[in-house]
Parts: sequence; C-alpha cells; structure tokens
Amino acid sequence: MKGLILSGGKGTRLYPLTYTRAKQLIPVANKPVLIRVIEAIREAGVEEIGIVVGQTAEEIKNTLGDGSAWNAKLRYIPQESPDGLAHAVKISRDFLGDDPFVMFLGDNVIEGGIAGLIRDFDMNEWNCQIVLKQVDNPSAYGVAEMQPNGSIKALVEKPAHPPSNLALVGIYMFDRHIFEAVNAIQPSGRGEYEITDAIQWLIEHGYSVFPHVHDGWWIDTGKPTDMLEANSHVLEEIQPAIAESAEIDANSTVDSRVTLQAGARIINSIVRGPTIIGKATVIENSYIGPFTSVYHHCQVRNCQIERSIILENSRISDIDQTLRDSLIGRNVRVQRSDGKPSGIKMNLGDHGTLWV
Ligand code: DAU
Repeated sequence: MKGLILSGGKGTRLYPLTYTRAKQLIPVANKPVLIRVIEAIREAGVEEIGIVVGQTAEEIKNTLGDGSAWNAKLRYIPQESPDGLAHAVKISRDFLGDDPFVMFLGDNVIEGGIAGLIRDFDMNEWNCQIVLKQVDNPSAYGVAEMQPNGSIKALVEKPAHPPSNLALVGIYMFDRHIFEAVNAIQPSGRGEYEITDAIQWLIEHGYSVFPHVHDGWWIDTGKPTDMLEANSHVLEEIQPAIAESAEIDANSTVDSRVTLQAGARIINSIVRGPTIIGKATVIENSYIGPFTSVYHHCQVRNCQIERSIILENSRISDIDQTLRDSLIGRNVRVQRSDGKPSGIKMNLGDHGTLWV
C-alpha cells in the first residue's frame, strides 16, 4: 500500500492567509494540516508517500524534507497546473505503479485516523473505497447518490441540487484500475479532471466501489470558519502537555487541558483549555479562553482572546474587547491607538475582513 497526498492547488478561499503560504501548511492546533495528514497515513502503517505539489512546492519541501522526521519515504510529484484530482492521480502513475494506494487531500482533517479504513480495504476485494459524511451544505462538495441497497448510484461534483446530503470526504482508496478510469474521462465543465467522474466510470464499468459512512467529525479546512472548527476539534483530541521549559508565574492560572510548548511564558494571566500556546510565546496580563491556538513567537499583552487561531510572530496588545472567532496571520500587529482623532485605524491586507 502506498500513500498519495494532494497538496497542489491555490487555496483562494483561505485568502488572505494563503497569498503567502500553501493552505495545507496552515496550522491547526499549532501543527500544519499537511503534517497531520502524513501522521495519519504513517499511523496506518503506510511508509511510501507521494506528495503532489504545485506553485507552493518549495515551501512544502522545506517543511517536510525527505520525510524522515515521520519515518516516511516521501516522493514529490510536480503538477504543472491544478487540473483536477483525477489529473493528480494520472501524473502519479510512475510512483504508484500497480500498488493499491490511499489518496488523502492535503487540506482534510478527520477524527480517528484512517487505520481502520485501510484495514478494511486490505481485507476486501474492492477496487475502490470512498468515505462519505452527512453534511448540511452538500453543494460545497462531491455528493453521492445511493441505491436503496446501500451501493452508489452516482457521484456528482458540487451539484447545485444535491441528490443527498452525503458528501465525499477527501480520503479515497484505489487499486490499479483507477488508471483506466482517469485515462478515460474528459475534463468537466469547470475544466478539471474530476475524481468523482473517474469513480463513476469505475462503477459504470463493473468495478466495486465500497462506500464507508464516517460518523466522527471531518473538516475540509478550505474556508476560515472551517479552520476554527477544525482547530476546536483537534484541541479537544490532543493530549495536553506542559513543556519543561515553559513557565507559569505564581499569579497565573492554567487549567489541565492546556498545552504549553517549549519556552512559552504565562505571566499574570488565565489560560483555559482546550488551548495551545506555542514555542517562545508570551501571554501577559491576559485571558486566553477555550479553543484557542497561539502559534510560536507571539506576544499577547492586556487582552482577552477566545476560540481563535493566531499565527507566528504576531503581537496583540491592549485591546479592550474580547477577540473571538478570529483568524490572525503571521507577523500581524493588533494594538490600541490612543491618539486623536480617535477611531479605528486599519492596515488590512487584500481579501481581509474586519468586524467592528
Ligand atoms: O474535501 C473534500 C472535497 O475535496 C470533495 O468533497 C470533493 O469531491 C473534491 O473535489 C474536493 O473538493 P475541493 O473543492 O475541496 O478541492 P480543492 O480544489 O480544495 O483540492 C483539494 C486538495 O487537492 C487541496 O489540497 C489541493 C489539492 N489539489 C487540487 C487540485 C484541483 C491538487 O493537488 N491538484 C489539483 O489539481
């Protein structure tokens, strides 16, 4: 069994954070989603992993290296333009050979990992296994239409009128027959080689496609609201730990569901979990509420923050109102201005949003 992670594409929906960073490298609970994907594949016992990369290839290679940090053997597979998920499979043929493989979209996070799915695929004679999840907004995803006997009738990509509420999760298992399918299909109306069309081709040509309905949480981290939700779920799952070099002064309260990474300092503050405070980050005279991730080398002073993600090297200080449900990028300054005339002063990047 091999692994194939799709980490190309552009990530326009996560602008402005993804102007300067691959969307798969945005951290959830202080760890890039792509690293969570690699860990999930390794936990399932798969060692050889191909990573399809596009415009952001250099950044991804710099972060993952040769994969030895996860005892994985990584092979980077360049994709010239994001021509679709089935196109990514097509160009990975040399790496995959005739081995069965699990394909994992590099921006997906799923509860409970994939070891059970891979075991099921290994033990059965299926040509393909897909993962489905009931959602409220199926039009945003690939959607499955089911037969009364529980098998799949059809798959459609982001339909305006969804035939069911069963969305396709970004985790798929295939045997070598998928190459016949990806070579047979044509680009869709939006110009992409769709994996849904390739799987539909398998069904129509008599290959077995088994649908597994996932009942835990699953997040496609493509949108800011989803990032916050994924962050909350993962924070609830991780085992809290206080690094030896972290400091909590006598005037601070840090509850038992808080993770403090190396060199984090909590001074005269209250931190309620589940929350993670990154490496060398300082929290002073502040309240950090549940479901918050503050990444490394940040400074938070005289503030209250809840259910938010703050990326590295940012400084937030002297804000009267509680900051909540916020996504703050790298090297950002949020500060008080007492100068006259009073008012709100902004220096916002393209595609940013400010709620006042
Ligand atoms: O997350 C689940 C959904 O993922 C499924 O329900 C849909 O059927 C499937 O098409 C996909 O939809 P998205 O709109 O979320 O796909 P996105 O363009 O965000 O691409 C998913 C990942 O694959 C992302 O990490 C970028 C990468 N990718 C995408 C394309 C189109 C590539 O590496 N190459 C590509 O050509």
